[in-house]
Amino acid sequence: MTRTRPLTGIFLDTGDLEEIRKYHALGIIRGVTTNPTILVKDGAGEGWEAIEKRIRQIASIVEPLPVSMEVTTNDPQGVLEQAQRFSAWARNVNVKVPIHGPRGGTENLRLVHELESRRNIRINVTAMMSAQQGLLAASAGASFVSLFGGRINDMGHDAKAEIRRLRALLDAFELPSKIIVGSTREVLNIVEWFEAGADIVTAAPKFLEAMLVHPYSKETVEQFLRDGQRLVPREERIPA
Ligand code: E4P
Repeated sequence: MTRTRPLTGIFLDTGDLEEIRKYHALGIIRGVTTNPTILVKDGAGEGWEAIEKRIRQIASIVEPLPVSMEVTTNDPQGVLEQAQRFSAWARNVNVKVPIHGPRGGTENLRLVHELESRRNIRINVTAMMSAQQGLLAASAGASFVSLFGGRINDMGHDAKAEIRRLRALLDAFELPSKIIVGSTREVLNIVEWFEAGADIVTAAPKFLEAMLVHPYSKETVEQFLRDGQRLVPREERIPA
């Protein structure tokens, strides 16, 4: 099966179908990311049937752009099975696997390597807080390596410095993984993380609207519309 190759730009971080339709129609997103917390918040429902339906719907709306669905287990066999199941839902579904489990360990990278190299499944290694984790995930063959910029800053570290460091490392080692930076906290994060070297920044819908709409643009357009009325014949003018 031919799979979607990584693209770059903004990935919408939501499981809300209306928001996905709205922002996809604008042509400004390059993919969608979800995680279990997002799917719960956005009412995807309980049970595999409901989750499969929601992910298939998202995949169909944005096809061929990629959609990330995260594994819900820390059991190695369960991760392999879920990865194969999720990626079979649609050819643009890729699978998020955390860099390691809640107690650490090396097992997840082995699974990432196997899924990418032997099972032809595109993996997004998630929940990473440092460039050195990102380097290892990229070395293991992950298509996407996700730094959680907001959470890095929450811990008192500098997300931009980690992004710059990871960019330099991947370039130096000629590793093709795309750098995703998620966990956006402010509108400014989107542009500053791209400037620092991210290929992809994930953003909740509210950040995109705030990025787009500017009070001075509103005022400027208001002025043009007002003066534009003076250019058209009186009978065509719209009363103020
Ligand atoms: C991105 O892919 C992550 O799912 C997301 O951005 C996590 O953000 P949070 O730190 O706000 O939970």
